[in-house]
Amino acid sequence: MNDLFPKIMLSRSDGIIDLAWGHPSDNLHPLDALKPAIDAIFVNKEISALQYSGYQGYGPLIGSLSQYLSEDKSYTRIIKPEELYIGYGASHGLDLACTLFTGEGNTVLVEEPSYYLVRQILIDHRLNIVGVPTDSEGMKIENLEQIIDSYKGNVKLLYLIPSFHNPMGSVMSLERREKIIDLADKHDILIAADEAYHLLYYGDPPPPTMATLDDSRKGCVVSLGSFSKILAPGIKLGWIQANPDIVDKFTNSGSNFSGGNNNFAGAIVDIAIRKGILAKHVNHLKNTYKSRMEIMSSALKTRIPEAEFLMPQGGYYFWIKFPEEIDANVLEKLAFNQGVTLRPGVAFSGQNLFSNCIRLCFALSDIEDITEGINRLGQAYDKYISG
Ligand SMILES: Cc1ncc(COP(=O)(O)O)c(C=O)c1O
Repeated sequence: MNDLFPKIMLSRSDGIIDLAWGHPSDNLHPLDALKPAIDAIFVNKEISALQYSGYQGYGPLIGSLSQYLSEDKSYTRIIKPEELYIGYGASHGLDLACTLFTGEGNTVLVEEPSYYLVRQILIDHRLNIVGVPTDSEGMKIENLEQIIDSYKGNVKLLYLIPSFHNPMGSVMSLERREKIIDLADKHDILIAADEAYHLLYYGDPPPPTMATLDDSRKGCVVSLGSFSKILAPGIKLGWIQANPDIVDKFTNSGSNFSGGNNNFAGAIVDIAIRKGILAKHVNHLKNTYKSRMEIMSSALKTRIPEAEFLMPQGGYYFWIKFPEEIDANVLEKLAFNQGVTLRPGVAFSGQNLFSNCIRLCFALSDIEDITEGINRLGQAYDKYISG
């Protein structure tokens, strides 16, 4: 085996329970479920799947996705095909949004904490990243206009994770979503709403995606959707939902001129939607993640009563706050020695905040490992406390 060129991003050590990575567990990959969709391309000799894609993406997928989203309880209105653009996923959508709507030195406002792996995208675009304080609903809005004004027209982008935030697991209320859209419209700012987890709700649906709510004249929201969390990250396909004028900008972007994105994956996903494979898989994921989430919550409550957290209602993560004096970097090392991994809170901060917080993921481990993982974390915590 040549580890220099690994097959996958995830690397795990033997005997260690992984509560750090935000990836689905091996047994949740829809290998058997996707087979009929992949076979159909060959059986039906669907040669278009091997050709360059239409500029907006694989046409049939735009149609099937528009219907799929429109029928989901969380979308609350018809999502028209002209509101969608097919890309490589949420990260790609953000990268393109930066290319099309920002310039070097512009300011981007992000939640503090925020998803740490998109930071590099913003850095690649030479943006000035400014963290805005959050509460249990994500970005706070009390002082948002003041912050925007203080940059004198230089704020061009607002990056938010409205539903089942990574790392906080929080959901932004409808009222706050609407207020932020009004502010963005007023100040000519584009909202890049990362909705990678939006469809993974385990009870009531979250409020509609920000693009669904955007009724501004020109449009000021790009909602970044992804099949990574609802089908498989290896498919690396996603979509952008936005006002058709904004979608046109993505469709007419330079990197599209040699053909749109990943037609082969688009054709597979289209068939997966039409055959009901996606809907069934999402249902399976929701049931599985819900039980993992409940197990993690009760294990935390019994094993580490000092751990403060809000019960997530969807997505992948628990955001846990320990007493102020706890240094999560030290806890991480102790936890590793006990055989469990976690992500320290500072990883999600541009300002070295959240030193007493950690993120735990319940998507990668099954119920037994989650129970044992929290038990090991409890042992590490006890060791920390007893010095
Ligand atoms: C908030 C958030 N956005 C985007 C991604 C990556 O999405 P994609 O694979 O569609 O680029 C992740 C993956 O963990 C995520 O947590």
